[in-house]
Amino acid sequence: MAEFSRRKALISGGGLAALGALVAAAPAQARSLVGWSWSPGESVAGSGAGADPHWVWDAEADPLLASLLERGAVPKVNELLWNWERNDQPLPGGLPADLRDFIEHARQLPSWADRDKLERAAEFNKSRGIYLNLCNGPGGGILATAIPKEARSVYYSAGGADMEDRVAKTSLFGFAVGALNAYRPDGTCIVECVKTRLVHAAVRHLLPQSPRWKAGADEDIPISQEDMLVTWHTLPTFAMRKMREWEVPITDAEAEAYLHVWQVTAHMLGIADEYIPATWAAADHQSDQILARNTGPTPEGVKLTDVLLGQLAEQTSPASTSRPLCNALARYLVGDRVADWDGIQREPVWDRVIPEAWPLLVKFREGLIPLPMVPEAAWTIDEALRKYIFFYLTKGQETKIEIPTHNRPE
Ligand code: HEM
Repeated sequence: MAEFSRRKALISGGGLAALGALVAAAPAQARSLVGWSWSPGESVAGSGAGADPHWVWDAEADPLLASLLERGAVPKVNELLWNWERNDQPLPGGLPADLRDFIEHARQLPSWADRDKLERAAEFNKSRGIYLNLCNGPGGGILATAIPKEARSVYYSAGGADMEDRVAKTSLFGFAVGALNAYRPDGTCIVECVKTRLVHAAVRHLLPQSPRWKAGADEDIPISQEDMLVTWHTLPTFAMRKMREWEVPITDAEAEAYLHVWQVTAHMLGIADEYIPATWAAADHQSDQILARNTGPTPEGVKLTDVLLGQLAEQTSPASTSRPLCNALARYLVGDRVADWDGIQREPVWDRVIPEAWPLLVKFREGLIPLPMVPEAAWTIDEALRKYIFFYLTKGQETKIEIPTHNRPE
């Protein structure tokens, strides 16, 4: 863990919050003042009980993982699931019967999954890969550190002690969602989602046993359905808003397909259908309701950001990039409010250059302007991104998602 500077710990925001392009209005505030009014009528289910997702977790997976952990079965399960990789792959023999039953059910795509849309989304992921990788990788990673409950969960769970491995595991997931064959039989997205669902259920059992997590938590159980939705919005909703802001040409069919792959992914991660937005308008509405009250600064978020940006800088060097470019790119992506919450240092040169160069680079890529209009500095950003994306795509191959059996050591 990199040295944590006191200056960074003291940086915090006040007044109205703006989580990148996502938070539209209200500041982080007591939820009792805001409540939950998003209607299940706006969801893929089209109806539902409308319960506040702050108080809903994963009724199927949570008791199962609690039981597996208490029975000491998880190390063996991890060993057996290590080579379970492909969507169409039968489960290995020897799994506990209750887990096998759960996975066989959890690996089924929802009845509303649309193969054509999933195929179109895969093409879109390919053609817009550079923006999506930037938004969902460094963008989503830095945004997550400005979500106090997520930052604290990640920090105090086992993975918090080894962020490099955690980033690699998350990139494995990101790669699976963005792959051309994501939900085809030879893809891996179903498996990664189901494994992640198991990991989250294990974390719900383990983290309440961490004295340091418990000391600062305003809840008894982490990773509620609301928390999942908040993180979900830092992925597709954030990426779509950014691409719109950069004026990336996107057809309605592409936008719908991109939403669809993330709707299916939300379902596969254990988010209940009655909370999954049916349209982009419903997604924006939901994100406006829950993002502001779930974002803010924490010392843990500042530390995690420092580690993340340090890693990013390492991956992208020796281009004339390294840390100042990474800091500025992160600030550009998530906006000043979040960047300040996360203690990201201001960079006099790059903070000025990136907002000018990046939109021109996008326009050039999209064939909207000719080469001479692209400033030289844009190519340094481009090179850093390419290196990062290469890292992002290869790093995950070194590891696999496993169910934790303990928290971060005290
Ligand atoms: C683990 C993705 C929401 C906290 C993971 C992993 C993935 C992932 C791929 C496995 C990688 C690993 O084990 O390190 C997602 C996605 C989410 C989501 C796509 C929402 C759409 C959340 C939320 C929280 C959270 C809301 C907390 C509030 C954690 C923790 C781990 C984890 C603590 C385990 C780290 C460990 O093993 O120590 N998540 N996550 N996640 N996630 Fe999430």
